[in-house]
Order: sequence, then structure tokens, then C-alpha cells
Amino acid sequence: MSRYLVTAALPYANGPVHIGHLAGAYLPADIYVRYLRAMGNDVAFICGSDEHGVPITIRAKKEGITPQQAVNKYHEIIKKSFADFGVQFDIYHRTSDPVHHRTAADFFKKLYDKGEFIIEESEQYFDEEAGMFLADRYITGTCPACSNPNAYGDQCEKCGKSLSPKELIQPHSQLSGKPPILKSTKHWYLPLDRYQKEWLEKWILSHKDDWKPNVFGQCKSWMDQGLQPRAVTRDLDWGVPVPLPDAEGKVLYVWFDAPIGYISATIALFEQRNDPKGWEKYWKDSETRLINFIGKDNIVFHCIIFPAMLKAHGDYILPTNVPANEFLNLEGEKISTSRNWAVWLNEYIQDFPGKEDVLRYVLCATAPETKDNDFTWKDFQARNNSELVAILGNFVNRTLVLTGKYFDSKVPAKGVLQTVDKACINAMNDAPEKIGQHIQHYKFREALFELIDLARTGNKYLAETEPWKLYSTDPSRVATILAVALELTSKLAILMEPFMPFTAERLKNMLNLKNAGWKDLPVSQLPEGHQLGEASLLFEKIEDEAIEKQIQKLASSKSSNSSQQKSISAQKSSTTFDQFQTMDIRIGTILEAERVPKTDKLLKLTIDTGIDKRTVVSGIAAHYQPESIVGQQVTILVNLEPRKIKGIESQGMILMAENESGELSFIAPVKPVNNGGTVS
Ligand code: MF3
Ligand code: ZN
Repeated sequence: MSRYLVTAALPYANGPVHIGHLAGAYLPADIYVRYLRAMGNDVAFICGSDEHGVPITIRAKKEGITPQQAVNKYHEIIKKSFADFGVQFDIYHRTSDPVHHRTAADFFKKLYDKGEFIIEESEQYFDEEAGMFLADRYITGTCPACSNPNAYGDQCEKCGKSLSPKELIQPHSQLSGKPPILKSTKHWYLPLDRYQKEWLEKWILSHKDDWKPNVFGQCKSWMDQGLQPRAVTRDLDWGVPVPLPDAEGKVLYVWFDAPIGYISATIALFEQRNDPKGWEKYWKDSETRLINFIGKDNIVFHCIIFPAMLKAHGDYILPTNVPANEFLNLEGEKISTSRNWAVWLNEYIQDFPGKEDVLRYVLCATAPETKDNDFTWKDFQARNNSELVAILGNFVNRTLVLTGKYFDSKVPAKGVLQTVDKACINAMNDAPEKIGQHIQHYKFREALFELIDLARTGNKYLAETEPWKLYSTDPSRVATILAVALELTSKLAILMEPFMPFTAERLKNMLNLKNAGWKDLPVSQLPEGHQLGEASLLFEKIEDEAIEKQIQKLASSKSSNSSQQKSISAQKSSTTFDQFQTMDIRIGTILEAERVPKTDKLLKLTIDTGIDKRTVVSGIAAHYQPESIVGQQVTILVNLEPRKIKGIESQGMILMAENESGELSFIAPVKPVNNGGTVS
């Protein structure tokens, strides 16, 4: 028996959770934990809401409520969704809880007292109109790595690069929409560059073979780029206050406080259990294995920053493994909360009551374990109808119905075994080890495929032996066949528990199985004469109608998106005529166009502005082929300060119109206007 501390990333309490969340971190974590428990290990399974940071304050502002009201609302919704889907945390805590505030502040203070931080005064972006420094998601701009125009100040969600606001190209405030000014402020930095040299790189490299390739690969590439000191405080009014006298108006960076949430949740768990020191063995005993389940956008924080914090603190163990999944798409498109392109768990429960396990099954079967994967409603239906119903459900049902019919639902006696029986018994004896190995290696899809394969073996066994044809001539042969099939059914009930806990429970009841777990598998659970319970169908067919309804629902969120987008892009705050007059906007013509090498968004254009011929780098490569736009008239801001983009000096900006699907279009005069003509 070993001790495990298993965590799943704390979701931001800024909206309900969707299938992408479930498939990315929570379902694999839950399967893993259920397996560990079934094997008799000592496991603490920890999660909670991440309630600080800019994602929360932005959401609250949108809804016109306070951040505390926003997190209260979503904390409850999220907590309920996890419980509904059988994700069995020992505690679902929250980072606005006083236990967390105290734990996070103490953690920071300890690092401070040990002299771990670099303290530095520097210029940071500031929104003059809002009177606020622009941390993290309050500032957006173009990603220097992949040219995504909507990269955040702390991270580009498109390419995953971790950023600081100053790296953004054309930064602008999310509050006023304006370009920010620079203003000096003091912050505390974690010297990641120093840790890299001292131990961090060695530690990462030591996990080359046991961490998943996608996780190790990302870490390695950060090491190769060289780590930089990282600020762990922010000028914000929502968060854990920096516990120092000279830090008025400053809070801990959300990515500093949130992972400490794993610790505070463990503390809170053992407070609830009236064992206030009980948490320590999970965090301080080097025998404990700490496993952090996360999505791929969390890798840098869990593999580099959090371990750096833990090591600098000194009292705590480091993660043993950080299994991260890639992203799950929906019907071929990226899941998006803001565009309502998602399947929300709280809505699924309403639309498919009692089918929680179907979603668990489908998400596990299509989990983005090694690459991004796609969820489609058609596939959901197909997997339900042709796997759960036709294979697993059908086998179990035939076995139970026949036993009812011939043997009054009592387990019959096994007679002499034939080759075909032995093959089936071998398959059921081999399965637990195979499935367990896959789970231990975080290969949950493979594990599930083995499970369904075992049910397939059962179906084949019945098809080959055809007990329904033998009863009048050879009842004892029928007894043997059904005894074997029932044995297999009981194994399936135990083996499916980590994946489909609700169904496992129902099947155990039908078999009248006591609390049998994985470690009881080698022993038969169904002795001769054992009375079975009442049988009912494990799964039911999902009809086209139900699927059409879901597809319609998505289609309508698509059309409301486009109408919404037209109306929601709110009017910016007012500007003055004089301010407007400072912009020199002209009509020009594209003379040359070529792709900027190693980017997929950027074109290098040569423009005749009437005044001169100049170079402009423009992010339109996804919308226009370079060869098709030579000769095109455009509108250009000619007095924008030149700036270097990908090493090319860009002298101006082409103005583009954007439609509801995000396509860009040139803006050209309707009547003839010569190059150099002004726009005002
Ligand atoms: N809230 C973050 C997200 O949803 C995850 C935080 S994980 C923790 O991406 F470790 F910081 F807790
Ligand atoms: Zn990027």
C-alpha cells in the first residue's frame, strides 16, 4: 500500500465547467484515484475553486456583480457538476477561504524571510483612464511567438507561450481599449533563472522517461529558452494581500496563490476530520507520491513555477508526475466559453438525466491524451449505441436473462470446462493486470479499450456456445456456460468502476455483489447457488432526435454569437476631435506582398502611400493570399510609430474591417481616390 496525494487543477470560478475540463483533468484524475483506492492505497484527492486573479474580476465586471458574488455563484455550480458526474474529491475547497489566505500568506512570508525573492522597481503598463496597472489578462496584444492577436499579458492561449506584458506587440488595455502608458511599481520576483542552474533543469531532465512526452517536451523547451525571474505579486485589489508592511494595494499573483490551494485544501480536509496534523504526511513525507492532473495550458505553472516555490519553501515534496492532457475540441472547433461553444456539464445533466456514465465513457474513449481530439455528438451516439448498448449492455443482459430463465437467477454449477470456456476464463484473468498497467501509466483510453474488449470476448463466447439452443438437450452444459459468463460479468462490474461508477454500482446490485474491489478479482465472487438481484438494462439506445437537438443547440449558439458580436462590441470611451486629428490616415496601394517566414499570420507589404513607398507588416495572411492582393487599394495609418515585427520594421498600419466570423477585409474607397488621399 502506498500513499498518494492526487490533485486536479483548481478551475477558475468564472463560469460553469464543460466537457473539455472534464476530459482534460478531472475524469482522468478520478479514474486514477478510483483505481488506486480499489487497490487499497491511501489516497487524498484534492480540488477546489481558483477564485482569484483577473479571470474572476473580469467576469464579475461583465455580470455587474462583485468578485466575491461571482465566485460564490460559480463555486456552487462547479462543485455540483463534479459531484453529479461522480468525481469523488475528498474535498472541493476554495481559495477565497480564510484557511487558504493564511496558508498562502505564510508561504510567501517564509520565502521572503529566507531571502528567496528579488525585489525590483520597474516600469509596468498602466491604464490612465481606469487608474490601474494592467496585469495578466487586463492587457492583450499580439503574441510575439505565433502572432495570435488576442494573447494575454501572462500567456498566449494559442501557442501556450508564457509571456510578460512587455513582450506583447501592440498592447492595449482590456478596460479602456487604449494603449497603456508605463509607470513605475515595485514587485517581488522568484529567481527562476537561478533555480534552473542550481537544480530545476536537472530535476526536469530526470523525468524524461516517466513524464508524458507532451509534458516533458514543453518543459524541455522552456529550459532551452532559459528561464527568467518571474513576478509573484500584482497591483490589484482582488486576491491574497501581500503580507508585508510596504505592500499596500498589492496581492499575490494568482498563479502563486492557486497551487498553494492544494496545500490549504489538504489542511482544511484534515481539520474537517479532526486531525489537524494529518495533512502533513501528504505534503512532507518523501514516501508520498504527489500527482497533479492538469490541462496543457497549465504545464509551465505545475512543472516549473510551483515546484520552484515548493523547493524554495523547503518543507514540501515535489510532484512525482504531472499528467497533462491536450485540448478537446467540439465538432471540430476549439471549445470557447465566451462564444458558448461548449457542452456544459450542468446542461448535459438536464438533457441526459441518468447518463452521466455515458459521457464519462465517451470522454475517456476520446480523451486528448497525446494530441488534441474532437468530441462530436454523432460519435457520442455511436459509442453509446454500438459499444455500451450493443457490446457491454448486451452481454450482461443476455447473461442475466438466461440465468433467470433457466436457473431462477441462482448461480449454476460449473461442470467440466471445454477449450472455449478456458479461453474466456483466461481472458478475464488477464484483463485486470492489463487495465491496471494502463491506468498506472495514465493511458486511460487504452485501459477502457481493454475493458470493452473483455465485454466483446463475453459476447463472442455466448455467440459461440449458444446456450439458448442447448437447454433441452444438455442443461448441465448450459449451467457451465452461464457460470462462466456470470463470472465474467462480475469481473466487468469491478473493472468498470473507475470509468463508470454509477453503472458499476447498478450492476453490482443486479449481481447482488457485496463490496468487492479490484484486489478481490482473483477470487470468484459468485459461488454456486448465489442468488442474483433483479436485472434491468444497463444502457439504452440514444435516438437521432436527442442528438439532433444537441446539434441544433450548438448551431443556435453559433448564430447568436454572430448577432451578439455585432451588438456587443461596446462603444469605447469617448475621444476628442483633436485626438482623432493626430492620426494621419491615407489611401494607398499594395505594390508587393510576401509571407513573413516562419509565421502563419503575417504578410510583409510594400505600400505606395502617395507620400512614399514603405514597408508594413500586417496580420492578414490567414485572410488573403499575397499574390492576390497586389494592386489592392487600402486604408493606412501612416503616422503610427514604426516598430519591429519579426525583425522587420513596420512603418504604419493597414486598417481592416472584421465580420462576425472574424474574417478581415480591406477598406477601400468607393469612388476613385489617388494614393495619398486623406481619410478624415
Ligand atoms: N485556474 C487555473 C485554470 O483554470 C488552474 C489553476 S491550477 C492551480 O487554468 F494549481 F493553480 F491551482
Ligand atoms: Zn502565441
